[in-house]
Amino acid sequence: MESKPRILIIDDEEVVRDSCAQILAGGNYELASASDGMAGLALADEFHPDLIFVDLKMPGISGFEVLEKVSAMDSTIVMVVITGFATISSAVDAMKRGAYDFLPKPFTPEEFRLITRRSLEKRRLTLETIALRREKEMLREHFAHIVSHELKSPLNAVQQNLMALEFEVGGSLTEVQKDKLSRTKNRISDLIKLINSWLRAISMDADQMKEAFTQVSVKDEIAKALENMEPYAVRKDVEIVTSIGEPLHSVMGDDLSLSEAFGNIIGNAVKYSRDGSKVTVKAEENGNDVVIAVKDEGIGIAQEDLPHIFDGFYRGKSGQAVASGHGIGLAVSRQIIEAHKGTITVESEVSKGTTFIVRLPKISPNSLNTKDSKVTKEESP
Ligand SMILES: Nc1ncnc2c1ncn2[C@@H]1O[C@H](COP(=O)(O)OP(=O)(O)OP(=O)(O)O)[C@@H](O)[C@H]1O
Ligand SMILES: [Mg+2]
Repeated sequence: MESKPRILIIDDEEVVRDSCAQILAGGNYELASASDGMAGLALADEFHPDLIFVDLKMPGISGFEVLEKVSAMDSTIVMVVITGFATISSAVDAMKRGAYDFLPKPFTPEEFRLITRRSLEKRRLTLETIALRREKEMLREHFAHIVSHELKSPLNAVQQNLMALEFEVGGSLTEVQKDKLSRTKNRISDLIKLINSWLRAISMDADQMKEAFTQVSVKDEIAKALENMEPYAVRKDVEIVTSIGEPLHSVMGDDLSLSEAFGNIIGNAVKYSRDGSKVTVKAEENGNDVVIAVKDEGIGIAQEDLPHIFDGFYRGKSGQAVASGHGIGLAVSRQIIEAHKGTITVESEVSKGTTFIVRLPKISPNSLNTKDSKVTKEESP
């Protein structure tokens, strides 16, 4: 709103239009007025007002209809209804249809000026919020672009060349040289994993994910996550015990994201477990939810770390001491679970162990009937 704020007054009474114009005269505004709803709508389209005052009761189309049509045209335009019958119900109705406020007739010049200032401030804040949101979105896209093109692509190329080098000269290297090469490859592969996690964290779009929701078997996704974790658990001699309740309804969701979230949580349980200990993964129904509990007998999480572990890039003190990581897994997992209208909570005792509990709403007959839900698999028993 760098130019003069534009105000449109729609009222069938000439005296109201004139007095509004008089009150605002000299106030550095651009004014326009219309004597009925249709003319008002046409002007709203041409004049691009920041603020519209509209009478509720007019011949032809009513103020209510004007509100609805303007809201559909541009929901950022602030609208205030002028009403001679300022009952609570008509005001509430007007608010429901997009009005920001209402002004009962008769009103004093001061009341009119005050509501004008407040409404224009509301418009300014709305536009500012939209601009900031857009800017944030652009920064995010820009950052993702830089990370993937300027960092990930060259690292992938380096990794590729190292592999080729190993293939060509691997046989003639000394043990020390082989060890150096292998450590270099591992460091690069860690960096590539970190970049992938960053990209995942900054590019996660919950709305986009929801569009692709299908019927997902929690049992299958846990099984996939466990399969990936198996070699790691074997190396640490950690036994993973699974218990899947019957029946276990499916959930509406994105299968890849859910198995990623389960993988992060089970991966943490193994990573922060003592060698030779046990991790239990239990899934069962509870009321309208499918509840997944992942319990370990590992190092536990200190009280002061607990409120922060779901924040991006946060690592607990004891966690850092025993294993490497980037502090992204739980932040991404929480975003995934919340995009599924679920919750994730944690209970932990230092040196005793930790339990993460994920609750996801189980599939209901209603969610199966919604037009946009794609059902791909048979419901599990
Ligand atoms: N099962 C667990 N037992 C003990 N500490 C845990 C457990 N799970 C998470 N934590 C703590 O929470 C922190 C955040 O976990 P998160 O999975 O987000 O990151 P990370 O494991 O450090 O790294 P990565 O991004 O590679 O997963 C960990 O650094 C650790 O301190
Ligand atoms: Mg982790």
